[in-house]
Amino acid sequence: MTDSLTAISDEIRACRSCPLWKTATQAVPGEGSAESGILFLGEAPGFHEDQQGRPFVGAAGHLLDELLAGIGLDRSAVFITNVVRHRPPENRDPLPEEIAACDVWLRRHLAVLQPRVVVTLGRHAMGKWLPGESITRIHGKPRVVDGITVFPMFHPAAALRSPSLRPAMVADFAALAIFLATAPQVVVEPPPPADQMTLFG
Ligand code: URA
Repeated sequence: MTDSLTAISDEIRACRSCPLWKTATQAVPGEGSAESGILFLGEAPGFHEDQQGRPFVGAAGHLLDELLAGIGLDRSAVFITNVVRHRPPENRDPLPEEIAACDVWLRRHLAVLQPRVVVTLGRHAMGKWLPGESITRIHGKPRVVDGITVFPMFHPAAALRSPSLRPAMVADFAALAIFLATAPQVVVEPPPPADQMTLFG
């Protein structure tokens, strides 16, 4: 059976793999385009996300929408999710064991979406592929890790707390737009049927 975004969302809503569901109002599975090839990965739902069941709908989400609009993208044209799908109490940082318990959903999303690029927002998302790296050092520079192109960025909430980070975020989105316009699309062709294969091509 092929997996689907709807099936993944339904299973996330029923997930009890870590205790975060006990204090959350509801799960926030993620939303957006299945075809865009662009996956934004944040940290965890906050108050508004927990209330609405949708990612990035509070103040950080408004900034994300603005930054996307700055490169001509609407949020509906990308897919947005988080490293944990239930709100941690008091908006504390997600614990390593909560992130690990939620990893299965990231893997399922990656398998279905097959993104050209994963834009990591903040250090928790970056740590999925680049643990121990300094976001200040590597933001805005795409890297291929385990076959996935990872584009690390600051978290929009960090730019709200420290407005001096905002120009760097705008520059990173501009770099993302250039990447999307110029990086070759890797199309994985299925192998030809066996009866069409020849030894000499
Ligand atoms: N911050 C996040 O990391 N994710 C959200 O969904 C909202 C705020």
